[in-house]
Amino acid sequence: MVCLGNICRSPLAEGILRHKVQQKGLDWEVDSAGTSNWHQGEAPDARSIAIAQKYGIDISQLKARQFHKDDFKRFDRIYVMDSSNHQNVVKLAFSSEDRNKVDLLMNAVKANNQAVPDPYYGKEDDFELVYQMIDQACEAIIARLTEVKG
Ligand code: 4NP
Repeated sequence: MVCLGNICRSPLAEGILRHKVQQKGLDWEVDSAGTSNWHQGEAPDARSIAIAQKYGIDISQLKARQFHKDDFKRFDRIYVMDSSNHQNVVKLAFSSEDRNKVDLLMNAVKANNQAVPDPYYGKEDDFELVYQMIDQACEAIIARLTEVKG
């Protein structure tokens, strides 16, 4: 899960997806990062911690880090929040196989390249919207990747 600062959107996405993965008993590694290093080592934004807490998810112990090209080796799928994140992540790709791992998170719900809006300069309501969007996308990711083919 990748955004710009790794303090608002992507730590929420990490917490929400990990929570669902645990509920389903899946063995997936879930992590998040920012395309920038601006908040390296910091805890998530207090407003992200609060909205997660409202829904019973604790993200207070997460620490921001910058996305690194080695993440292409560690992860099968890389979900970005907006088109700027997409550009910045794809720039670091080694191969077309890597580039194919990257997609906008909301395309998991509907393939129309919708962004999860940056709530950094926003208010509580913006974090609620971001939470609901990410929650819906994570539900769709789990449904799609666990569906029985046949
Ligand atoms: P995020 O939000 O990318 O969802 O973590 C932001 C956090 C910090 C800044 C911008 C967006 N910033 O400008 O410091």
